[in-house]
Amino acid sequence: MNDYPVLAHISDLHFGTEDKFVAETLVHDINESAPDLVILSGDLTQRARKGQFKKAKTLLDAIEPPVVVIPGNHDIPLFNLMARFLFPYRNYEKYISNEEYPIYQSEHLAIAGVDTCSPFRHQSGKIKQEDIDYLVNFFSASGEEVIKGVVIHHNLFPYKGMKSGSALKGADFFLHEMNRCGVDLVFAGHLHRSFVSTFSQPEVNNHLIVLQAGTAISKRLRKEENYMLIIKPARDDIAVEFRTFKAGKFRLRRQQIYSRKV
Ligand SMILES: [Fe+2]
Ligand SMILES: [Fe+2]
Repeated sequence: MNDYPVLAHISDLHFGTEDKFVAETLVHDINESAPDLVILSGDLTQRARKGQFKKAKTLLDAIEPPVVVIPGNHDIPLFNLMARFLFPYRNYEKYISNEEYPIYQSEHLAIAGVDTCSPFRHQSGKIKQEDIDYLVNFFSASGEEVIKGVVIHHNLFPYKGMKSGSALKGADFFLHEMNRCGVDLVFAGHLHRSFVSTFSQPEVNNHLIVLQAGTAISKRLRKEENYMLIIKPARDDIAVEFRTFKAGKFRLRRQQIYSRKV
């Protein structure tokens, strides 16, 4: 009997470039799957405009399970430099959330989101020491049986063929710190590619599993379909289902199982 919670991970909605039918199907399929929690790892909009955030908010309101959401680099203005540097989160905070660290906690789950965007590093992002300190403190209260997850927007690993430097600034340090404090899962987006990487280090006996979700509903596909991931943790391992939009539904493409322990 697996009484661990089931999670859905979606990313990079990019309202403004969305496929309306895929968006409606996504909401329907998430609600039908009835996960305990939905994780949305940023880039809700294409250009951080009010109308795009309103549409994103409508989608979030239609999702029945609770949602942990963080912003992506497209959720702060790019071309309007005054807005980008003086009040980059004005529209995100007005329509989506003004929580600095969105969290979700239950008997078997501790999830926290951090914002990896920077107006100065619009594309590559960065992780701040104060955010790492927050996360280490947040997870220190959870025992081994609790599945611990961090939600960020930028990728910690490059996609195959990409330059090794094309990941979040500070990614290596972040991986070591999160692994050390027992984090099982990192949920990320940004690349519009769906893949999983694992990380471990000597003297730490747990794996860190880094999930990259492609774009769930945007027409800006980078040679792959619209994706959502379904994550099924258990005491010893974590199953990840990759579901792609095909013939009017998000359908199982493949499943991978990862051990929580090294
Ligand atoms: Fe994106
Ligand atoms: Fe992004």
